[in-house]
Order: sequence, then C-alpha cells, then structure tokens
Amino acid sequence: MKSKQQEAREVRLREMRRADMPRIMALEQELFPEDAWTAEMFAAEFAQSASRRLYLVAEEGDTLIGYAGMMFTGGPQADVVTLAVDPGRWGLGTGTALLTALVDEAARRGCTEVLLEVREDNPRARRLYLRQGFTEVGIRRGYYQPSGVDAVVMRKALA
Ligand SMILES: CC(C)(COP(=O)(O)OP(=O)(O)OC[C@H]1O[C@@H](n2cnc3c(N)ncnc32)[C@H](O)[C@@H]1OP(=O)(O)O)[C@@H](O)C(=O)NCCC(=O)NCCS
Repeated sequence: MKSKQQEAREVRLREMRRADMPRIMALEQELFPEDAWTAEMFAAEFAQSASRRLYLVAEEGDTLIGYAGMMFTGGPQADVVTLAVDPGRWGLGTGTALLTALVDEAARRGCTEVLLEVREDNPRARRLYLRQGFTEVGIRRGYYQPSGVDAVVMRKALA
C-alpha cells in the first residue's frame, strides 16, 4: 500500500476551469468559513484577461485537492489572492507546490515582487510563506470583516 507521501507525488497542477467551481466552492466554505469567496467573485476573476491573473488547481488523480490564484496589475507587483488545500491532504507539500508555481510565473512575467495578505491567526499559512522566502512587512488592522482579524502583509522580492 502506498503511503500518503508516495501518493502526493502524483499530484499535478493545471489551470483552473469553470467546471472546477462546484468543488472549489465546497472547499472554500470549509476552509474560509468567515471569508469565503462567492461564485460571483471567482466569475469576476475569470472575466479578467489572462494577462492579469493566474488560477491553478492541484489534482490527485481526478480529485481536486487544492487551488491558488495570483493577480497581476501590470506593474512590477504580483499578488497572491488565494491559496487552499483540502484538509485531508495537508502537510504533503501541495500548498508549497501551488505557491511555488505562482511565484515562478510572476518571475517569468517580469515581476520584481510578490505580495500577499494572511490572517494574523493563521500560523500554518504564515510559516509556509516564511519558509518560501516571504517576510512580514506590515499589518492591516481589522482587514478581515466581519471578524475584525488583522492581516499580516508579506512580501517576497524576486531576483
Ligand atoms: C495553508 C495551506 C494552504 C498549506 O497547505 P499544505 O498543502 O498543507 O502545505 P505544505 O504541505 O506545503 O506545507 C505545510 C506543512 O507541511 C509540511 N510538509 C511539507 N511537505 C511535506 C511532506 N512531503 N511531508 C510531510 N510534511 C510536509 C511543511 O513542513 C509544513 O509544516 P508546518 O505547518 O509545520 O510548517 C493549508 O493548510 C490550507 O489550505 N489552510 C486553510 C486555508 C488557508 O489558510 N490558506 C491560506 C490563506 S492566506
């Protein structure tokens, strides 16, 4: 029998499609109970030109186990706007793989920095970003509503 880690090697990344939305909405509700994106918010992102965004999913076989998105504003900055992995698959490197793919694409598109906001009460995500070379550069007080939780702003400079 394969271990969880061996199975994880079969994870593939590809671009998000509209057909992924039901599964993504279910994970969104589960993972972000206070700040879940609506289907309309994802639709608005899809409506952006491909030069302004990149949305990826991670699949294990036919099962979508994670997703991540990045926004490009046309300048030197790229923003990670979402990152999520099925709780049953945490700790296997999927979040890191998704984040790395986004950051690599930002570098490929000529960006010089990647920024993101993360909830102050989310140590797991903050550790992942620190490990990937992000540093904490600021706090946005009460950024997440209605909870009022602060956002930590993190930045990674690209070579
Ligand atoms: C944050 C999140 C995306 C991380 O996803 P993940 O797939 O578990 O991330 P990784 O596996 O790459 O890394 C997380 C942990 O697993 C460990 N890990 C990484 N690869 C591993 C492997 N092959 N085997 C065992 N452990 C591994 C890492 O060391 C890390 O450990 P730590 O938490 O003690 O620092 C996920 O927990 C999640 O979806 N959380 C809820 C939504 C969220 O908070 N999103 C971020 C919003 S800003």
